[in-house]
Amino acid sequence: MLQRLRGFRDMYPEYMRARRIVFDKICSVARSFGFHEIDSPSVELLDLFRIKSGEEIVKQTFSFMDKGGREITLIPELTPSVARMIAARKDLTKPVKWFSFPKMWRYEEPQSGRLREFYQFNADIFGVSEIYADAEVMALAMEILDSLGLEGKYTMRFSDRILMENMLRSMHIDNIEEAFRIIDKKDKIPEEVFYEEMKKITSEENVDTLLDILRISGDIDAVLSKLEHFERSEVIANLKDLLSAYGKRAVFDLSIVRGLAYYTGIVFEVHDARGEYRAILGGGRYDGVVELFGAQHTPAVGFGMGDAVLELLMRREGVWPEEKIDMDYFVAIIPGFREEAIKVAMQLRKKGYRVDIELRERSIGKQMKYANKINARYVIIVGEEIKSGEVVLKDMESGEQKVVKVENIGS
Ligand code: HAM
Repeated sequence: MLQRLRGFRDMYPEYMRARRIVFDKICSVARSFGFHEIDSPSVELLDLFRIKSGEEIVKQTFSFMDKGGREITLIPELTPSVARMIAARKDLTKPVKWFSFPKMWRYEEPQSGRLREFYQFNADIFGVSEIYADAEVMALAMEILDSLGLEGKYTMRFSDRILMENMLRSMHIDNIEEAFRIIDKKDKIPEEVFYEEMKKITSEENVDTLLDILRISGDIDAVLSKLEHFERSEVIANLKDLLSAYGKRAVFDLSIVRGLAYYTGIVFEVHDARGEYRAILGGGRYDGVVELFGAQHTPAVGFGMGDAVLELLMRREGVWPEEKIDMDYFVAIIPGFREEAIKVAMQLRKKGYRVDIELRERSIGKQMKYANKINARYVIIVGEEIKSGEVVLKDMESGEQKVVKVENIGS
């Protein structure tokens, strides 16, 4: 038999139902924060990611030549497409707050929480250079997790690329992009590999100093007092105060730099509190991307959250919705009354109920068994009584059965 590709998932109805509850919750929290939903193509020119995202992500793309000889790819992330959409519309009233929940693809080694095809919720704010927008998206990320029952089960950590860049430059490290790339991998690679890669761009002594700095995390004031670079301390302290106004908190942690090339300011990541899984979500400020599409300078900040680690964590914490199918009504049919039964089903469907109906000619006994299997709340048996506008209504929970007027059902 032909197998499913590795890192891809088939999703059956029970699972989809649970996912739908989670996805709807996430989108409704985004809407409550004043974000509007958008969508964009699943396939883009590979160059879009070459210019914007950095080498690392291009290595992971599902890319190919199309019939017109163009080098195209399934999207590995959404940020460049959204930035292009912003640049194309000069008439948008700023700030712009957009969210979306597309599928995306990365040719990574499939492992716990990392797949080759996944969904990623994105929320971004455009047109605000003030730290207020950073606080708003970070708070949104945390409110989403809290609303899913994960309060206290995750840690939001953040850092600042400006502060980090200044620090690296003061150590005469000039290849900042490469330094960020290596620092981002630090927790995933052995310390010797970190040394080796870093030593290609700076001295051994500097690598030691850097390792000390990267260990600094915790209370923002304490961390800032340990550093000589105060130029961003006000902004960072302000962010902490803003987050507490939202009723949220984040840990300042210099080891957070993020893998993508375009970040220019605050960067953040959320991990599960036990540190068992890969990042649940990540984001930050990327003030230079929109203008690469020929628009005016447009500051931007946002995050992306995949569905995979979120699901692992929700399952571990017992807050993943129950995976089952159910139905409001099942319409059972006595032979000879199919058309009347269809009419009854349609009346209830128009009232907004989920209604299944017998599509074969099974015995009533078998129809009842089926109704049980699909977890129908009520069964309506359409037979002789329909001539006087009545049917048998059975409550599948209590077992109670009575004859009722069709127009009185479900109103
Ligand atoms: P990213 O850190 O590459 O950032 O991905 C963000 C999140 O997407 C990760 O934390 C994880 O939840 C999920 N994710 C990434 N790769 C995979 C995978 N192979 N399988 C399952 N989930 C995955 C970005 O993509 C940025 N564009 C986010 C952003 C939006 N920054 C600003 N706005």
